[in-house]
Formats: sequence, C-alpha cells, structure tokens
Amino acid sequence: MDPILSVQELSVEYATRRGALRAARDVSFDVESGETVAIIGESGSGKTTLAVALVRLLPRNARVSAGAIRFTRDGITRDVLRLDDEELREFRWRECALVFQSALNAFNPVIDIWSQFLDTARAHGMKDTKAVRDRSFELLDLVHLDPERVLRAYPHELSGGMRQRVLIALGLLLHPALLILDEPTTALDILTQRAIIDLLRELRTKLGFSMLFISHDLSLAAELADRVVTMYAGRAVERAGVEDLFYRPRHPYSIGLLRAVPRVTGALGSVASIPGSPPDLISPPPGCPYHPRCPLAIDACLAAVPPLLPVDMPRHDAACIRWQEVARTIGTAERHVAEKLA
Ligand SMILES: Nc1ncnc2c1ncn2[C@@H]1O[C@H](COP(=O)(O)OP(=O)(O)O)[C@@H](O)[C@H]1O
Ligand SMILES: [Mg+2]
Repeated sequence: MDPILSVQELSVEYATRRGALRAARDVSFDVESGETVAIIGESGSGKTTLAVALVRLLPRNARVSAGAIRFTRDGITRDVLRLDDEELREFRWRECALVFQSALNAFNPVIDIWSQFLDTARAHGMKDTKAVRDRSFELLDLVHLDPERVLRAYPHELSGGMRQRVLIALGLLLHPALLILDEPTTALDILTQRAIIDLLRELRTKLGFSMLFISHDLSLAAELADRVVTMYAGRAVERAGVEDLFYRPRHPYSIGLLRAVPRVTGALGSVASIPGSPPDLISPPPGCPYHPRCPLAIDACLAAVPPLLPVDMPRHDAACIRWQEVARTIGTAERHVAEKLA
C-alpha cells in the first residue's frame, strides 16, 4: 500500500534581506496509513516550515524550491504541490489538518468557539448548521470537554490545556486522514502535556487517523511515535523506528538530543544541552552542517554534505559518514537514555 504521505526531497527557502534562507533541504520521509511519525529537532531546525509547507500555507516570502509531496487516500494520490485553490480547500481539513503550536494565536479572539467551528465547517462546504453542531458536540465530548460550556466561550476564557483540546477537536471536524500537530504541548505545564498526549493516543485508537507529531521534546515523541525523523539545519539527518532511534541512534545529533532529555526525577540543571548553536541557514558551514558542534567530526566531515543512507538496521538511515563510530560509542549513551526514559 502507498504511504498516506510521501515527502520527497522537499526544499523550502525564505527570501530575506540577507539572501535566501534555506529552512528545509532535501527532506524525504513517509507516513504510512495508521502510523505516527515524529519530527524532532531544536528550535530553528525547520519543523514548522515543513508542517506549513505540507498544507501549502507558507508565507509569501517562502517558496518550495524543489521536491514533491504526495498524499494518498482510498487509492487516490494527490500531488499536493500541484493542487489548485479549489482542490486545496478540499485537501486542507478534509484530508489533512494542521493543529498549530500556539493555542491562543490559533483562534480569532473576538468570536466564540461555536462560531469558530461553524466558520471552519462553512468554509469547507458543510452547510447544515445542525450537522455542524452535532459534530462539534461529538468532538468536544471526545476531547473530554463540556460542549455546551465551551461552545459559548471565547478563546481567552479557556485555559491553555482546554484551548489545545478545542484546537484538536477543530482539526478533526472534517474527518481528516492525517493530523499534523506542531508542538501541541509546548506552552503547557507538565501535567497538561501528559493529558494531551494521552488524549491523542485515545483519539488515534478511536478515530484511526495517521499523525505527524512535531516536537522538540523527545520524551513526548517517544510516547506517541512509531517512527522518528531527526531534523537539523533544515535537513532530515536520521530516520528510524522509535526504539532504534532511542536505543541505537546513528547520528551524533540524535545522541545530543537524547542527552538533552531532562531527568524526570533528577535535580534541575541535569539537562546536558548540546554545546554550540545551530548554524546560520543563509550561509551554512561547508560539509555536514553539524560538524562545528560534533564531538566525532573529522576533516572529511567538512568535504561534503553527508547523504542520508541506510545503516546497520532495516528502515534506519543516518546522514553521517561516522555512523559506525557512533555505533561503537553508543553504549554509554544508551544506558544514560534508558535510565532517563525508564
Ligand atoms: N517567515 C519567515 N521568513 C524568514 N525566515 C523564516 C520565516 N519563518 C521561519 N524562518 C526561519 O526558518 C528557519 C526554520 O524555522 P522554523 O521552521 O520555524 O523552525 P522550527 O519550527 O524547527 O523551530 C529558522 O531559521 C527561522 O528563522
Ligand atoms: Mg516550530
């Protein structure tokens, strides 16, 4: 069966005063039907750019400079970059819905929640108000909110956690086959984060959608994902099953991210952040973009951008010429991570 989403060599750049900022470069990955794929990476690695490009909502200074996005449902494949306006309207929300990062900004502050549901439904051809109301009730129930109360409320009257639940319900309004969630828990406290993750798991089982879950937080990604794509400086640098990524990573940046997972029980400050900072995406360093921060870098790492290639496990790829070295040094990292995630 074709994957529901297939992203092939996708590149996106922003026009800036200093020149072209390459926010996504040659990114390829698939989401199989029913699967959850997590995209992980530090802030600025191009995750939101990717999410927004997938539903063709990039701002005007952005352009897709290369690549393809294919979406397949019920045997019909859509070439997302070639959809016209009418087809795009059908595609967004009905096929693929994007749940945004910031729960407050994602709403129109001056209209109540019911109007947000109704506007969204109408914009996508659902004209029967009674049917919209029934569907809104059903979904708010599913996300464990009181529909009566919430539909009457204005966005600022709801807590962050409630707003995020409403946004998830809204995303599901038109029965999309794929839900893209961009840092859906980032602004929330730990307990609320946990509740949202549990909710997503529950909804996924009940409704059967596929998910692309975007996060800088590996421990959250680990709880939901079947497979993980690590992004660095706009590139996919590792693709692996979730267990492989956590216990047998093959890219030094993935290890850096794993080591940066805070200990749940440890003292504050036990987080080892990755030394250095992400590269300038307008004039990136030569060769591997991670080499200035990489403890394993050698001269050869500066010579060329390493391609994403299969490593010593099935369906596991890494863009590192030293992945075998990584495999040899991973023993300690593995123990460290296992301890943290246990
Ligand atoms: N509208 C924009 N114009 C110019 N640069 C942008 C714009 N949006 C994002 N960027 C840049 O693109 C890069 C990737 O950003 P983003 O996709 O938001 O990453 P992430 O979601 O991983 O934090 C960053 O360097 C960011 O500054
Ligand atoms: Mg982002």
